[in-house]
Amino acid sequence: MPAELLREEFFIQGRNFEKAGEVSSEIKTILRDLGIDPPTVRRLVIVAFEGEMNVVMYAERGVLTLILTEEDIVLEIKDEGPGIEDIELAMKEGYSTASDEMREMGFGFGMGLSNMKKNADELRIESEVGKGTSVFARISLNTHG
Ligand SMILES: Nc1ncnc2c1ncn2[C@@H]1O[C@H](COP(=O)(O)OP(=O)(O)O)[C@@H](O)[C@H]1O
Ligand SMILES: [Mg+2]
Repeated sequence: MPAELLREEFFIQGRNFEKAGEVSSEIKTILRDLGIDPPTVRRLVIVAFEGEMNVVMYAERGVLTLILTEEDIVLEIKDEGPGIEDIELAMKEGYSTASDEMREMGFGFGMGLSNMKKNADELRIESEVGKGTSVFARISLNTHG
């Protein structure tokens, strides 16, 4: 196990569209300040934003944990919510159960999970219907030598 350099938890309130995106922009600032290379920050922020939005849109509440090690950056997003019945279906591009109201706000294109998959080096989703969902995403850092 590589040494942990930083671990920080962020609370996400479900249904709070006013604050939606705040956690991912905070993460962007933290990673930039740490000097993580911009392309990696960009990928990580896409994963964080899509994960955060899914908690806002579908869950009651969640906690996003940012973990930086010498080798990678990990995001764990655990929520209390309805869970996902069919994860394979949810991962499909264009699949969305977003409400009309959410679509009017510009969310719910059904690309979030597939975008997370594209931008992470590793993405795992576990879910229990009626309980909640856990997303684990990892992005490798370019380690030289
Ligand atoms: N944390 C979550 N809890 C419950 N359902 C979720 C969660 N994340 C995603 N989903 C389900 O997976 C679907 C696809 O998610 P996503 O690819 O992010 O697209 P979108 O959010 O635009 O609908 C959602 O419409 C929803 O049904
Ligand atoms: Mg989404």
